[in-house]
Amino acid sequence: MKPVAKGNITGAFLKFLTLGLIAGLLMYGCAGDEKTAKGKKLYHHYCSHCHGDSGQQGEGFNWDRMPDPRPKNLASNAEMSTFSDQEIFDTVYRDMRDWEDPKVLDDENYFAVPTMPTFKYTLSEEEIWGIVAHVRTLHGMSLTFDLVGRKKELEEAYQTAKPEMEAAEAAYNAAVEKVEAAQEAYEETLTDEQLEDYEPEEITLPEEAVFLTANDKFNKSKNAFEYFSKRPKKTRIERPDLTISEADLAQQVELGKKLYTGTYGCNGCHSINDVGGLVGPTLDRAGFRLNPTWIYRWIRNPQAMKKKTRMPNLGASDADARALTYYLGTLRAPKPEGPVPDPE
Ligand code: HEC
Ligand code: HEC
Repeated sequence: MKPVAKGNITGAFLKFLTLGLIAGLLMYGCAGDEKTAKGKKLYHHYCSHCHGDSGQQGEGFNWDRMPDPRPKNLASNAEMSTFSDQEIFDTVYRDMRDWEDPKVLDDENYFAVPTMPTFKYTLSEEEIWGIVAHVRTLHGMSLTFDLVGRKKELEEAYQTAKPEMEAAEAAYNAAVEKVEAAQEAYEETLTDEQLEDYEPEEITLPEEAVFLTANDKFNKSKNAFEYFSKRPKKTRIERPDLTISEADLAQQVELGKKLYTGTYGCNGCHSINDVGGLVGPTLDRAGFRLNPTWIYRWIRNPQAMKKKTRMPNLGASDADARALTYYLGTLRAPKPEGPVPDPE
């Protein structure tokens, strides 16, 4: 590689910075920046503990306690300008379990970095874009992603899926009617005796599959459009029946332990025996302190129980939340000596 004169880089960088600053100032006060301001607040609430308010490594109070690998420097233009807006969005939105790539699924390290939590079950798409817009300002850039276009695209997808689904539904109903009419006509040709042991044949109508596919597409596009600007619904979590046999319990505890670090990265925020994050309370006495039913419901939907909690909803399934609950139930460390910090 040819060495480049250092002065050039600095000069270009300064120009870039100045342009960024001017662009930033021009944007400031525009209606679009309401989003960035909101994103800044959300960032402060949900991200600062790990990433630092300015995005600098080592700044967040949780930094030293986070397992490796730790995040990049969000304040570094050199590192972050290689990410597209969409890629930053995906990092915050994606749930590691959504990957469908079999190569990734076969990989043992598939859940390599679950300590960057997903926010898709906690915030609206628009809110996450607001956060991305704020993250951009941390390294002197601004969001160029076309949010208005995105919303329009979602709306259009929803609006075209609707008549498609309705047409498929009508076609399916018509096909059912036709079959039923033919069936009736046939039955009329039978004598009473024949009718007695006659059993109509079950038929699968191709129109049914078409309708189900169209309906699925409709529901998905409806949700995607609705959750663009609305947070995911806080569904009520039913009381679980947590009775379990001794033999199953041991297995569930093992599974829960794996899910805790491997899938959900709870250790990024919570400590057990002084290892792990400081964002949430230590869990090493959870087995004494917390009621299992409460733990289960909390894991399934923390926001439903405490609106402004910093713990995101991690989208844990019923089965996973059970295993995690059984695991936390085994954490029964002795009381620490000396003054006990207030867990609340
Ligand atoms: C519990 C700590 C934690 C919280 C809370 C957290 N992150 Fe992260 N974040 C991480 C870790 C760890 C990584 C590194 C992941 C990797 O290397 O793949 C990361 C990576 C990232 C990245 C990609 C840069 C990189 O290092 O690969 C971005 C962007 C990011 N986080 C933004 C956010 C935003 C925005 C929020 C708040 C909505 C947030 N994070 C909340 C821990 C956290
Ligand atoms: C991004 C950080 C973060 C992640 C990831 C996280 N938590 Fe939390 N958790 C918190 C915070 C913050 C609280 C405190 C809640 C409050 O009062 O607002 C909390 C509270 C709890 C509590 C109640 C503790 C008590 O003593 O009151 C339990 C149990 C819990 N979390 C379990 C989990 C489990 C299990 C996981 C993984 C599936 C997890 N958490 C992932 C941040 C996190």
